[in-house]
Amino acid sequence: MVLYSEKVMDHFRNPRNVGVIENADGVGEVGNAKCGDIMKIYLKIENGIIEDVKFETFGCGSAIASSSMATEMIKGKPLSEAMQLTNRAVAEALDGLPPHKLHCSVLAEEAIKRALEDYCKKNGIQFEGIIPASCDSEDHCG
Ligand code: FES
Repeated sequence: MVLYSEKVMDHFRNPRNVGVIENADGVGEVGNAKCGDIMKIYLKIENGIIEDVKFETFGCGSAIASSSMATEMIKGKPLSEAMQLTNRAVAEALDGLPPHKLHCSVLAEEAIKRALEDYCKKNGIQFEGIIPASCDSEDHCG
């Protein structure tokens, strides 16, 4: 039985944008209370563009693949576009995740949104994204 798409396996084995940005303009950290996984996102933002993004994930393979794909999807993009990123778009870009692993992509969306929110707060900009409901609840943490 094939559980994971080739794209998931590729991003899990060769994750893009792993690491830390010193003096990041925005940092977001989230944890999933149920599985105990943690994700941290660092953003470098210049002139309203995500110039660089890095992540650290202490979590499952789907969380690593989701953060890798999510960072690729917002790199070089304007803030307004990054704020619209959804976990569904990340999961679709990975050619799907098993239903019980969808919450791992929620973690990636949440971490990015929190980093964007952090940047907005520091710079007096109104945050226009929607932070997904924390995945502490039973329904997306299988
Ligand atoms: Fe915890 Fe995937 S993020 S199981």
